[in-house]
Amino acid sequence: MPFHPPEPFRIKMVEPIELIGKEDRRSALTRSGYNLFGLQAAEIFIDLLTDSGTGAMSQEQWSAIMLGDESYAGSRSYGRLAETISQIFGFRHFLPTHQGRAAENILCALLLAENQSIPSNTHFDTTDANIRAQNGVPVNLVIDAAYDPKEKHPFKGNMDLNKLENFIAQTGADNIPFGMLTITNNAGGGQPVSLENIRSVSAIYKANNIPFFIDACRYAENTYFIKLREPGYGDKSTFEIAREIFSHADGATMSAKKDAHVNIGGFIAMNDPELYQLAGNELILREGFLTYGGLAGRDLDAIAVGLKEGLDERYLAYRLEQTSYLAEKLSEIDIPIVLPPGGHAVYVDAKSFLPHIPQSEFPAHALCVALYLEGGIRSIEIGSVMFAHTDPNTGNTIYPQLELVRLAIPRRVYTQSHLDYVASIFVNIAAKKDSLRGLKISYAPELLRHFTARFEPL
Ligand code: F0G
Repeated sequence: MPFHPPEPFRIKMVEPIELIGKEDRRSALTRSGYNLFGLQAAEIFIDLLTDSGTGAMSQEQWSAIMLGDESYAGSRSYGRLAETISQIFGFRHFLPTHQGRAAENILCALLLAENQSIPSNTHFDTTDANIRAQNGVPVNLVIDAAYDPKEKHPFKGNMDLNKLENFIAQTGADNIPFGMLTITNNAGGGQPVSLENIRSVSAIYKANNIPFFIDACRYAENTYFIKLREPGYGDKSTFEIAREIFSHADGATMSAKKDAHVNIGGFIAMNDPELYQLAGNELILREGFLTYGGLAGRDLDAIAVGLKEGLDERYLAYRLEQTSYLAEKLSEIDIPIVLPPGGHAVYVDAKSFLPHIPQSEFPAHALCVALYLEGGIRSIEIGSVMFAHTDPNTGNTIYPQLELVRLAIPRRVYTQSHLDYVASIFVNIAAKKDSLRGLKISYAPELLRHFTARFEPL
């Protein structure tokens, strides 16, 4: 029997969850326009919508909250967070933001002009939208293996270095105000990026004078993948690996709602003093003063403690194993998933699970709806609802290569038996999958449509 390390914690406080009846789930779906973002939390049994801001804080974090200093400027909490960020990330400056997308907005608003391009391995949807909101062009240059759910590449989040070099040569470095890399690569299956790749990406950006920003939301999970899989890093601590990762970048955007184990918060960090000054002005306009950026002092303290806990190797060993446990369970019952499993989530390959539903009818979203109806499980579509868009030149719809259902696992929240339950619901769905039908969109806004679109079943 494969060994999965048990949770390195025990439960001190509980939150009841309840599976409401199937007819109630059916009417919740109708009411919400078949958009799972429109459901009430009380209507959900197991919530795998996101690992963002949904984790359980530790007793140390809750204790730190009581020490929060709510001074408007120069709080002790800010000082504690500044010290932790400087230790782990090593950048000269940082600004707190209320979450990751606020950091992305600051970067895009300050540096990006119309029609300029921002390359990355794969931009997450909020980054993609922040770039488009400035009339910029997000460009995804991940290795081809990322698009093959079956290829077990150890670092499937890697940037394709040839694609990056060619892209810069064609576009011209002047039209690329900064370059990015998302670790782990959420939109591409939560897959890690190797340190070798990070070094090379950094060298390419540097040779072209393009500032390099890392989208660092799940950097801690990425460090542990490097420790496990990259030759030469087995004996390095996750802290040392993190230091090395960020030493190659000019800055980072971070949603603390992931690997900093908090319910809200984020930051932007950079070395460039001029950019720091401009970003500070933008922060004061939209988020808050330099030393709190839209957060309470106590939030800053919770992030400071959470950042350290996020790098704890006993925790990370359990965390990545919990994800592979669910992946193994699903593989055992022949549910096609992205292999190897990523850090924070298992991604089901809905295109091969439901080959009878064309992309224009949203197969991954159809599976999300089925998971809720069958078992009260909330998941998220990472496919055509999220990423299909109209080509401005031809008017044709461009569909993404992958149609995925992400089962994101909140940190320190669900136990192994919750995951067994999820697998059992997949057994029920697999038995009747040929009868599942697609959906059509009845309303959608232009940007980030997946949050508020409404659907009708076909
Ligand atoms: N970058 C990545 C890679 C993300 O996964 C997210 C958020 C963000 C940036 C934005 O951060 O939510 O704090 O503004 N991802 C969440 C998710 C929403 O469900 O994957 P935020």
